[in-house]
Amino acid sequence: MARLLLTVLLLMVVARGALAGDGEVLPAANPFEGQAGAADEGRNLFNETCSHCHGPDAVTSMAERNLRKLRIHYGDQMADVFHKTVTGGRTELGMPAWSEVLDEKTIWQIYTYLQTVQAP
Ligand code: HEC
Repeated sequence: MARLLLTVLLLMVVARGALAGDGEVLPAANPFEGQAGAADEGRNLFNETCSHCHGPDAVTSMAERNLRKLRIHYGDQMADVFHKTVTGGRTELGMPAWSEVLDEKTIWQIYTYLQTVQAP
């Protein structure tokens, strides 16, 4: 049974790779999309970890730090830009890299919260 499960999982991984084509990187996708519980948790995590630079509940007067305008600025690329920026940082511009500090789950929960506060 366990072996069957493993095989299925492996096939899914292979199929995903094949769909992506040779060396093509799949765009980042939020595994918590639309989950209210993740957004609540994400809000707490955001206010603990990010708010001293990006403002409580992501409200800030500094345009380049305004995370309520990610959708306006990046549209369909929003998840990708968010994930790349948070994991890799923009250290030369004062945005730290978080990949050693936060796990993927935490990063996507924060993203799920930010999705709920995007400017129209
Ligand atoms: C030490 C201050 C600091 C902390 C803490 C911080 N950031 Fe940033 N962040 C910045 C700065 C400064 C920028 C703007 C960089 C620039 O000018 O492009 C930025 C940019 C970003 C951007 C890109 C915004 C855009 O419009 O392109 C995202 C996304 C982001 N931060 C997410 C986060 C998240 C999520 C956290 C918490 C895990 C966080 N940041 C914590 C300073 C910080």
